Amino acid sequence: MRRKVTVVGAGNVGATTAHRLADKQLGDVVLIDILEGVPQGKGLDLLESGPIEGYDVRVKGTNDYADTANSDVVVMTAGFPRKPGMSRDDLLKANYDVVKTAIEKVSQSSPEAILIVVTNPLDAMAQAAYRVSGFSKNRVIGMAGVLDTARYRTFIAEALDVSVQNVQGFVLGGHGDTMVPVPRYTTVAGIPVTELLPKDKLDAIIKRTAGGGAEIVALLKTGSAYYAPSAAAVEMVEAIFNDRKKILPCAAYLEGEYGISGLFVGVPVKLGARGIEQIIEIKLTPEEQTALKKSADAVKELVGVIGV
Ligand code: NAI
Ligand code: 2OP
Repeated sequence: MRRKVTVVGAGNVGATTAHRLADKQLGDVVLIDILEGVPQGKGLDLLESGPIEGYDVRVKGTNDYADTANSDVVVMTAGFPRKPGMSRDDLLKANYDVVKTAIEKVSQSSPEAILIVVTNPLDAMAQAAYRVSGFSKNRVIGMAGVLDTARYRTFIAEALDVSVQNVQGFVLGGHGDTMVPVPRYTTVAGIPVTELLPKDKLDAIIKRTAGGGAEIVALLKTGSAYYAPSAAAVEMVEAIFNDRKKILPCAAYLEGEYGISGLFVGVPVKLGARGIEQIIEIKLTPEEQTALKKSADAVKELVGVIGV
């Protein structure tokens, strides 16, 4: 039997996620939104791509949570995106209402699902989803680190004129201006990046990575990025469905790891069939630890505002 993925929110990120899931034949896809007709239209359009793309997975758009029943994975993308000049945090209260309503419904219809949260502000919304669903912490995962790291890898590959596949690394912390790329653990075909790029160039890349979402918002003017974000969410679904045990930077609920407790923050985790199967703790320098703490404090402030 094919697996089932529900994508909540049929906007830019949600519809592109559904598209990528179908193309990769990862499972049957249900696309749900409050807008009438939009998820149905996009779902049907994707279904009708099957004969050309050669997939048999079913894609269905709906406004009814009954159609989402017993999903294996739920990707939560419903919510408002940023407008130019707006921070992710400005979205906090509006998107908390959306996440609360949608997660209440989807966690009832799919009580065994693994939740991948995309809605911003990411870490606080992952925490909201965790509290509202009551799911165990391994089954609630925030998507941001894979995206931020993809941006970081892109800029490094560009600067060195090498394949993006050669660049390995990760970004820690919350999905915001305080995120923490870690050059000390970044390699290019096994070579520490610090041996290949001068400090000023690396600093510029780190700054561009932290502003990566805003760079795209400023260009698009109406909305935020969705191609790389959907690719990131689908990489996580694939790691879960194929029990890859893939180490990816994701927002996870920490209980003492990295000296942080009771908070979702981006750290390297092992993703497999059970969701987050392990939180990988790496040694940080005092400066890196301070930067991570600052980032976690920013998440804590938001979480405090919505009381989750
Ligand atoms: P969008 O505006 O294109 O789509 C959002 C959709 O959510 C709309 O179709 C809307 O009707 C729907 N929606 C609103 N309330 C709903 C509810 N209660 N139930 C179901 N659907 C509902 O926005 P886009 O570009 O798809 O972004 C979605 C969210 O993802 C935003 O909060 C954005 O900031 C966030 N995002 C997060 C990223 C990350 O790295 N974590 C990356 C990119 C986007
Ligand atoms: C991004 O980083 C908007 O959070 C989203 O593109």
